[in-house]
Amino acid sequence: MAVSRVFSLLTLTISLFAVISTVSGHNITQILSESPDYSSFNSYLSQTKLADEINSRTTITVLVLNNGAMSSLAGKHPLSVIKSALSLLVLLDYYDPLKLHKISKGTTLTTTLYQTTGNAPGNLGFVNVTDLKGGKVGFGSAVSGSKLDSSYTKSVKQIPYNISILEIDAPIIAPGILTAPAPSAEGISNITGLLEKAGCKTFAKLLVSSGVVKTYESTVEKGLTVFAPSDEAFKSEGVPDLTKLTQAEVVSLLEYHALAEYKPKGSLKTNKDSISTLATNGAGKYDLTTSTSGDEVILHTGVGPSRLADTVVDETPVVIFTVDKVLLPTELFGKSPSPAPAPEPVSAPTPSPAKSPSPAEAPSPVAASPPAPPVDDSPEGAPSDSPTSSEDSKAKNAAFHVNAPALFTALVTLAATSLLF
Ligand SMILES: *[C@@H]1O[C@H](CO)[C@@H](O)[C@H](O)[C@H]1NC(C)=O
Ligand SMILES: *[C@@H]1O[C@H](CO)[C@@H](O)[C@H](O)[C@H]1NC(C)=O
Ligand SMILES: *[C@@H]1O[C@H](CO)[C@@H](O)[C@H](O)[C@H]1NC(C)=O
Ligand SMILES: *[C@@H]1O[C@H](CO)[C@@H](O)[C@H](O)[C@H]1NC(C)=O
Repeated sequence: MAVSRVFSLLTLTISLFAVISTVSGHNITQILSESPDYSSFNSYLSQTKLADEINSRTTITVLVLNNGAMSSLAGKHPLSVIKSALSLLVLLDYYDPLKLHKISKGTTLTTTLYQTTGNAPGNLGFVNVTDLKGGKVGFGSAVSGSKLDSSYTKSVKQIPYNISILEIDAPIIAPGILTAPAPSAEGISNITGLLEKAGCKTFAKLLVSSGVVKTYESTVEKGLTVFAPSDEAFKSEGVPDLTKLTQAEVVSLLEYHALAEYKPKGSLKTNKDSISTLATNGAGKYDLTTSTSGDEVILHTGVGPSRLADTVVDETPVVIFTVDKVLLPTELFGKSPSPAPAPEPVSAPTPSPAKSPSPAEAPSPVAASPPAPPVDDSPEGAPSDSPTSSEDSKAKNAAFHVNAPALFTALVTLAATSLLF
């Protein structure tokens, strides 16, 4: 049927769009694997998923520690603390050795990835870079009273102006960063409490009444990612009547809202594969795909899109997000339920009227009574870039956003045209 053809073409278009928008020019894991000196640092970048965050950004500098310098952190602190310490070594600006020695007035404060976590009051997320006498460059926390305890030792690699990798001789330690409590000690032990506070009371109640909260808790140590629909999401149109589901179906639906692995936002942004959920019981079953739009992450179930809203908690290896729609797996709710009258193809120019649609193909507006399902995500109105990225990367992304809608329009036109012939 014509409608489903348009939908499948739209889906194709959207997947293509998703692939294009997540292309990244570098792979930090790959680059560092060329030198065994950085094996410990590299391994922690992967365990904390900072590698994904680094790969999803451009115009950055990674200050790396060799295995010797890393030994003051490695194995001595919870993963969440090591993640904070390493986040301070990712500068959201591009410094090659030349620029390092040409800092105006010889000293500057630069934003780090730690600043983007929302856990960095004051100057905690900034690093002081100072050109010292004798060609030395020192690094330290920007919190006043901190010492410039780390020094630049050598350049590892540059991909101008995407990523620069420089070696320093010691971690940059901001006050309090090493003494932060491990997540299991507090907070995360009460998932439902966190969810209630985040405006997901309905979801929390369902987790408790179904017992699925136990399944979530059982995976916490290995890693847990939760996509919690807000109370608004449960009230919105198109949410099926959950009282009509069997107990087993409710369990599957709730398990579908979590992953048995730690996937923070940076990892979702760079993700290209389909993701298994706790409900997955066979290849390709109950899985999710992702796409991005600017700084936003959109989850796709096959039934409809849902946007990542807030990060309730991100403490390695647990991350809890709120999402704006209940995630409806195709296994329970079918593909594209109640397809609406043929979509006026989203903002596509009318194809040349060489041949009008045959009456059989012509969409009948009477046929489908329920309201149109949300047309899968449109790239229009891509939100502005993260406020922390530098001007340079903003300009690049801006250029991308100009081109993307044009591509989208072209493909939608193609879709619309193929419907007619
Ligand atoms: C830099 O990053 C952009 C955007 O991700 C990419 O298109 C470009 O190829 C990269 N440049 C290099 C030299 O890798
Ligand atoms: C980056 O490189 C590592 C090691 O070569 C590889 O395992 C990984 O899949 C790569 N990641 C991406 C996103 O290509
Ligand atoms: C960086 O630290 C040095 C030494 O503490 C200090 O003199 C300098 O003013 C700081 N730079 C900035 C930009 O605050
Ligand atoms: C979890 O938090 C909720 C709400 O704050 C509270 O009612 C509940 O007793 C807590 N559960 C545990 C096990 O601490």
